[in-house]
Amino acid sequence: MHKSAIIGNSETLLQVALSNKVGLSHTCEGMGSCTTCRVFVLEGEMSKRTEVERERAIERSFKDNERLACQLKPVDGMVVNVP
Ligand code: FES
Repeated sequence: MHKSAIIGNSETLLQVALSNKVGLSHTCEGMGSCTTCRVFVLEGEMSKRTEVERERAIERSFKDNERLACQLKPVDGMVVNVP
């Protein structure tokens, strides 16, 4: 399914997804600990990983474009895949 959304400046990708009724798991409610909100960024510049996301990425050997939606700031034109 393809879905577009308008983003605000301070929102995370998880917040944008939830406000646009995109089903995205978020067991820890955006605290960056569960990794259930994991997405793959297909297009668009990515914000730097937060400290908590960096820790999860190292623990779980994330690919560079494998990100936590609760920690990622979306940018205009960003395309993500929800696994
Ligand atoms: S909601 Fe748990 S890591 Fe993002």
